[in-house]
Amino acid sequence: MIDEKINQKYLKKIKLFNKYNKYYYDLNEPLVKDHIFDELKKEILNLEKKYDFLNHKDSPKNSVGFRPSKLFKKVKHKIPMLSLNNAFDRKDLINFEKKIFNFLNEKSTQIIEYSAEPKIDGISASLIFKNGKFITGLSRGDGKEGEDITENLKTIKDIPNQIKSKNFPEEIDIRGEVFIQNNDFKTLNNKFANPRNAASGSLRQKDPNETDKIPLKFIAYAFGYEKGLNIKSQSEYLEKLKEWGFKTNPLNKKIKTIDGLIKNYNDIEKKRGEIDFDIDGIVYKINNFKLQKRLGNVANAPRWAIAHKFSANSGVSVIENIEIQIGRTGALTPVAKIKPINIGGVIVSNATLHNEEEINRKDIRINDTVVVERAGDVIPHVVSVNKEKRKSNSKKFIFPTKCPCGFETIKEFNKVTKKFDAVRRCPDKGFDCDKMSKERIKHFVSKEALNIEGFGKKIVENFWDLNLIKLPQDIFKLDYDKIENLDGWGKLSVANLKYSVNLRKTISFEKFIYALGIRHIGLENAKIISKNLKSLKNFIALSKKNNFDDLINIDGIGETQVNSIKNFFKNNTNLNVLNSLEKVLKVTDAEIIKNNGSLNNKTFMFTGKLSNMSRSEAKSIVEKNSGSIVSNVTKKLDYLIIGEKPTNRKVEAAKNLKVKILDQLSWLKMLK
Ligand code: IVH
Repeated sequence: MIDEKINQKYLKKIKLFNKYNKYYYDLNEPLVKDHIFDELKKEILNLEKKYDFLNHKDSPKNSVGFRPSKLFKKVKHKIPMLSLNNAFDRKDLINFEKKIFNFLNEKSTQIIEYSAEPKIDGISASLIFKNGKFITGLSRGDGKEGEDITENLKTIKDIPNQIKSKNFPEEIDIRGEVFIQNNDFKTLNNKFANPRNAASGSLRQKDPNETDKIPLKFIAYAFGYEKGLNIKSQSEYLEKLKEWGFKTNPLNKKIKTIDGLIKNYNDIEKKRGEIDFDIDGIVYKINNFKLQKRLGNVANAPRWAIAHKFSANSGVSVIENIEIQIGRTGALTPVAKIKPINIGGVIVSNATLHNEEEINRKDIRINDTVVVERAGDVIPHVVSVNKEKRKSNSKKFIFPTKCPCGFETIKEFNKVTKKFDAVRRCPDKGFDCDKMSKERIKHFVSKEALNIEGFGKKIVENFWDLNLIKLPQDIFKLDYDKIENLDGWGKLSVANLKYSVNLRKTISFEKFIYALGIRHIGLENAKIISKNLKSLKNFIALSKKNNFDDLINIDGIGETQVNSIKNFFKNNTNLNVLNSLEKVLKVTDAEIIKNNGSLNNKTFMFTGKLSNMSRSEAKSIVEKNSGSIVSNVTKKLDYLIIGEKPTNRKVEAAKNLKVKILDQLSWLKMLK
């Protein structure tokens, strides 16, 4: 049953994938932005990875594009025209390199050189030259088989018809991108939505005379089959291409290290608007051909290359309303309800305005035309206002001083900055503020807290409005008969909900503290408190004794946290919640770490980058083996573990104090 559901979901995605492909490759009329297509591709591949029974002939792992159009003769590529895997951030790049080192079975301390080439968003083509003469030109097609578009390609001035250089290989399939420059596209005023579609469309005209009318350009960057090409690296190849009379990208660069790649990426992204053709990222290729060869391909992409994509991330819209949302900690956050717009393929209808000060500073008003940005996982936000578009009757937005629950709001004084906060808050009355209470319940059931499966934010809102839940303990006294009769609910879904709720009646002390949603008590602080107080009884006892010394003395818990907990206990509703939950839940005591691991009684500190392991993983290994982590080099430190590029100051301090210094391998050996 479950497998069938997954299969259905998978087939639906494959169907959509085929549809997108057809519109993109065959009709030159993309239905969605590239990254939506990329996301779908990724989702399908992820599903296939997770469930090995999923396998469809149209899976992206089996094809690069769509089948070639019927207009042209089909020709098999001697060497397939591959696709590239995508990277979106530093993490993806690190992962890419890590996989390379793993595959080569080499230490990650080795430095790889890349050829970094801006990725032109055009149409790739393969040009076959024999004895210096351009013989056949093919489109990519599905990667295995392309269309014979020789005559159309011959109209492109950047493609030499005859190459006389002595060192030109006897045979070679030169690959590159056909595209239209943006200024040329503007003068075309035809039916194409963007330069890429125009390039694709004109390249696949039946009549080459029609193609000739379009100022297509060609930039070379790769090769397929070759006979007589004697070079060792991609950068050498790019040089040769220039010698032979091809255009190459002037922004191509040889770069070492991921930091270097990212710097170049940022520099080029800034310049993106000034470049006269569309680029949608940077392609990184391992420069050395020997390494490329060893790495080979995986599915339909090389292991030795990756495309670091740019994000399409802003758009213009109109603010239809400004709403004030109240968060779990009482912060009043203004949110602009905007006319829905598509930003990088995602429909955005809400944009945060951050806080009152931000609204005042930018003088943001209802009905304003604004630029909205959406980048990565960050919530979309309003970047700027176009005041020229503002009507004369527009009114300044007055920020409310009362929370919708009725309490007068406050701005807290920050002792460190000696300034009042920019954020206006409902005073911390916890569950007494309806808005905060709803958010607290959402937090209580959320993944990192009680983790009640299927109890999402919408259900909390719905149950709240129906008076089914007002406080966290109500979750354990739900009227399931009533729920069964609600719209969208049935016997099975209610049984599932009941099961999920009951499953979480046993919870660890640390999760419980976190789930309460006390301000300033996040997961880390909850962990520390749990480790030190050990049980819920001891926690509740703090308030009963009205003595918080036990908390104050905990290393890692500061005045802010202690005050917040004191404040929590001062509120009667909170005490009621705590007592009721104690009755319905089984809160398990903190586990006592057994002091018998191989690192018992030893203190450790790490500096530099560890290989194949994150810092937090290393710390957790130490703790699991009964050792402890310290954050300063002092006499109390037993071992300083050094990774790649350690901080010299720490190493010197350790030497002076005669602290033992170990590399990662020797440390791992201590674990036995
Ligand atoms: S290398 C095996 N280099 O990106 C390597 N591709 O998603 C495959 N592209 O089909 C191609 N600029 O249309 C390469 N400097 C560059 C590129 C580039 C643009 C396009 C090309 C390819 C697609 C891969």
